[in-house]
Amino acid sequence: MGNGIAHVFAQSGYNVTLVDVQKEQLERATSTIEKNLARMVKKEKISEADKQATLDRVSTSTELKSGVADSRLVVEAVNEQFELKKKIFQQLDEATSADAILATNTSSISVTKIGAVTSRPDKVIGMHFFNPVPVMKLVEVVSGLDTSKEVTETITSLSEKLGKSPVPVNDYPGFVSNRVLMPMINEAIYAVYEGVAEPEHIDEVMKLGMAHPMGPLRLADFIGLDVCLDILRVLHDGFGDPKYRPCPLLIKMVDAGKLGDKTGQGFYSY
Ligand code: CAA
Repeated sequence: MGNGIAHVFAQSGYNVTLVDVQKEQLERATSTIEKNLARMVKKEKISEADKQATLDRVSTSTELKSGVADSRLVVEAVNEQFELKKKIFQQLDEATSADAILATNTSSISVTKIGAVTSRPDKVIGMHFFNPVPVMKLVEVVSGLDTSKEVTETITSLSEKLGKSPVPVNDYPGFVSNRVLMPMINEAIYAVYEGVAEPEHIDEVMKLGMAHPMGPLRLADFIGLDVCLDILRVLHDGFGDPKYRPCPLLIKMVDAGKLGDKTGQGFYSY
């Protein structure tokens, strides 16, 4: 999601530094931004000059320390693993100025828990974007237990400047979005597991009957089955309620490396 987040900031006039440990990922990210901007030029939504100006505002770095040294805001978008986020936030806390806001694009991990590994939990907040980031209007603005009111207001008004619709939520597992979405996806996977219907028929029911743009299994592939499993585990652990137990078929598909769009195979082949 990092490339989409960088895209919307740069298109709204902000200078952005994309940071990743791998140079190839940064090249892939910038070429995705270029491709998505080119599509907007083709549809006459922006001019060629806008596209170039947006690209000129995006720089890249494989060094976290120098990449964020001058940043007023950092939006972290690494994998949904708490230990990894902990390491990154400890580094960000040291590398940025004391007044910088540290936001996380986490889908479900506790913002409070992430904030607690830093010396500034009042400036740690959830800024949860949705895929495809340049298209989806929602930003879930997640306040941790210690997030200050000022920081929540800053991120809310910044989200509006990005052309998004911020929605305030409090920090509980899965927030609102994934607390509601993931049980639906998990139930659709149980329906496959129990032989209720084929994946395409389950998706058809939800698309034609409930006007969802994508069925839950197509959406699970789009999000990434590993990400869905990580989020379900956060819900299951966080609430201790068996209603969130991940379907064994989901676990088996992740074990097999069938993660959806990104590996070419999930509930569908790509
Ligand atoms: N990047 C940028 N723009 C994109 C894009 C991408 N990856 N994919 C599609 N678009 C744009 C298209 O250019 C098009 O723009 P215009 O309307 O200006 O012409 C628009 O999106 C619609 O695209 P298409 O007509 O090609 O395709 P579509 O109508 O089938 O829409 C979709 C595609 C927007 C992805 C739609 O299927 C959809 O809304 N799906 C549901 C997406 C969703 O639920 N996302 C949330 C996932 S959960 C998450 O992200 C967070 C989490 O915590 C798990």
